[in-house]
Amino acid sequence: MVELTLPKNSRMVTGKTWPKPAGASNLRKFSIYRWNPDDGKNPQVDTYFVDMDNCGPMVLDALIKIKNEIDPTLTFRRSCREGICGSCAMNIDGINTLACIYGMDEIKGDVKIYPLPHTEVVKDLIPDLTNFYAQHASIMPWLETKTNRPAKEWKQSIDDRKKLDGLYECVMCACCSTSCPSYWWNSDRYLGPAALLHAYRWIIDSRDEATGERLDQLDDPFKLYRCHTIMNCTNTCPKGLNPAKAIAEIKSLMVKRAV
Ligand code: SF4
Ligand code: SF4
Ligand code: FES
Repeated sequence: MVELTLPKNSRMVTGKTWPKPAGASNLRKFSIYRWNPDDGKNPQVDTYFVDMDNCGPMVLDALIKIKNEIDPTLTFRRSCREGICGSCAMNIDGINTLACIYGMDEIKGDVKIYPLPHTEVVKDLIPDLTNFYAQHASIMPWLETKTNRPAKEWKQSIDDRKKLDGLYECVMCACCSTSCPSYWWNSDRYLGPAALLHAYRWIIDSRDEATGERLDQLDDPFKLYRCHTIMNCTNTCPKGLNPAKAIAEIKSLMVKRAV
């Protein structure tokens, strides 16, 4: 079951209901998780009302409006506002997604916003992704070569370049890994769908010369084989990528090299 990782010895309580904006006729209600590590209080869910006649169409527009006009202490990450930086990942209406490309019109009724599940929270809607980034670094996310550097560039055929489509677009938002039950329970040892998608991206890069080492590193009962093809990762990816397929391809390469 999807769970929030609450701070130690805490329980969720009902928070503050902020006043409705005066004169607005098109209001949406937002229930938003709040937790401040510095005030010693329990996490709470605050209620806000936003005038949708005076707000952009995306969930991030509403969050920015709340922060700018109602409650400047509301804390969340964002940068690009167009699904490129991956920083506005959160759980909206029960789905891990990017707030900047998730339309308000996709949500029926009140809007419930929580941090990504099963992650420690830094503050409010900001997950601690330290382990997630360390796992990404562990798969050597760079071109590893042994032959001498060419005078100009490492060339690749059009067909080989096409093999990277559906992989290079990953924005490292962590929506997939934090939706994966195997990752929830074993994130200390299972690399999770995002890191494995990146691992595959470098394994199948025709210019890379460390395929054997990469597969050796993943050939581990936990790092790779904790994936049980539950598909939550692929279903939730806000960029429409398919980490489960990438993981299956790595497993297939493992079998091929064993026979
Ligand atoms: S397919 Fe694998 S990585 Fe994706 S959610 Fe399922 S167990 Fe996790
Ligand atoms: S595969 Fe999709 S959900 Fe996972 S980190 Fe990349 S962009 Fe985010
Ligand atoms: S703000 Fe960059 S992906 Fe949403």
